[in-house]
Amino acid sequence: MTELEVRAIAAQRRAYAPYSKFRVGAAVRMSGAIFDGANVENASYSLTVCAERAAVFAAVNSGAHALEEVIVCTDASPPSSPCGACRQVLLEFAADPHAVEVVAINPAGEKRTWTLAQLIPDGFSGRELP
Ligand code: THU
Repeated sequence: MTELEVRAIAAQRRAYAPYSKFRVGAAVRMSGAIFDGANVENASYSLTVCAERAAVFAAVNSGAHALEEVIVCTDASPPSSPCGACRQVLLEFAADPHAVEVVAINPAGEKRTWTLAQLIPDGFSGRELP
């Protein structure tokens, strides 16, 4: 198992998901370092933060901006891919979305792999902005 996978599985155990019971852990490699996060839900449901965004925000708050690799761990079978909002946040930090591997895993050992470009083709990169 890779270090990134180990970190995503460990993060999943820290998920705060009393409402959905859907526990998610994520680990990202950004600017050469690994950061992780878990989903954090709220009684006011829309305030929930996904695991992927928690991991990316942790990275950015440490000064790491270059997204290289993503692992998402859920209990789903087949493993669940990142939601649309998280895909957009991942895209923000991907210099080349074709070069960023996104891997979904579960503790049973199943695995699905995409590039970020496959998950959010023709996405809004921000380069369109004035
Ligand atoms: N969730 C994530 O953490 N990441 C995703 O990509 C999909 C959804 C969380 C949000 C919420 O806490 C729970 O999973 C159910 O939607």
